[in-house]
Amino acid sequence: MLTILVINSKGGSGKTTLTTNLASYYASKKNRTAIMDYDPQGSSMQWLRTRPGHVEKIHGSNAAPAKGSVTLHSLHAWVPLDTEVVIIDAPAGVKGLLLQELVRKSNFIVIPVAPSPIDIHATADFIKELFLFGGARTSTAKIAVVANRVRSSSSPVYGALERFLNSLKLPFLTNIRDSENYLYAVEKGLGVFEMDEAVTAAERRELMPIFRWLNGQFPNRYGSRIEDKVLSLEGSRKLAALRTTTPTITNLSATGRFKSYP
Ligand SMILES: Nc1ncnc2c1ncn2[C@@H]1O[C@H](COP(=O)(O)OP(=O)(O)OP(=O)(O)O)[C@@H](O)[C@H]1O
Ligand SMILES: [Mg+2]
Repeated sequence: MLTILVINSKGGSGKTTLTTNLASYYASKKNRTAIMDYDPQGSSMQWLRTRPGHVEKIHGSNAAPAKGSVTLHSLHAWVPLDTEVVIIDAPAGVKGLLLQELVRKSNFIVIPVAPSPIDIHATADFIKELFLFGGARTSTAKIAVVANRVRSSSSPVYGALERFLNSLKLPFLTNIRDSENYLYAVEKGLGVFEMDEAVTAAERRELMPIFRWLNGQFPNRYGSRIEDKVLSLEGSRKLAALRTTTPTITNLSATGRFKSYP
């Protein structure tokens, strides 16, 4: 199972937009795909509910904590056993234990960043947090950055970020334009790969470097087998069996959280 985390602690950087477009790409390629939405705003879950009947199904797993809950999220979120690709939509402001949990789950981490100096500064701080406290230094997950909502691909504002990424040897994959097609797609429950190719050719083209990186065509991708990082239904069965013998974890079981998106 390929687990891709889309994350930036900065709000509005494009996490949900990227999540939905990555998920719908894999689904349209007939990969069994799931989204884990860790954001209490539930935007990815809302997008899944909007999806029309004629497009490929994507499983939705609501991993956002219940109000007032302090339990670790991974114990609540499940995907079907045969899932091939999981995209995790992270909430804004993520840090601490949740950040570590998300990094642990992931094979790949994609960080979208908007072009304003404030966003770039916040993203640089977030990347430091990811390495210093998020466990990225010891994780096997590959990390890359994409620019989002770019008006001009020659925008000089990314210069400082590119130098910072170079110093960390992190790849900057692509510029995603500011485009109404992304707004239209999210409104209709689609991704740009599910819309008219003639209309979305530019958006498709600019997203391809991300898929090439994920598919291993990028030079620094690790080539070994992709581990199962996200617990599948089989894992939940094991946990359920454990639960019958270990009363202390009863409250942490995933019972009732597994659901198939219709
Ligand atoms: N490339 C783009 N072109 C046009 N609009 C975009 C693009 N990317 C994102 N948007 C819009 O910008 C807003 C914020 O994007 P999005 O919801 O994807 O960010 P987010 O990082 O998930 O936000 P949050 O931190 O609140 O979860 C949304 O209205 C979205 O439709
Ligand atoms: Mg979001």
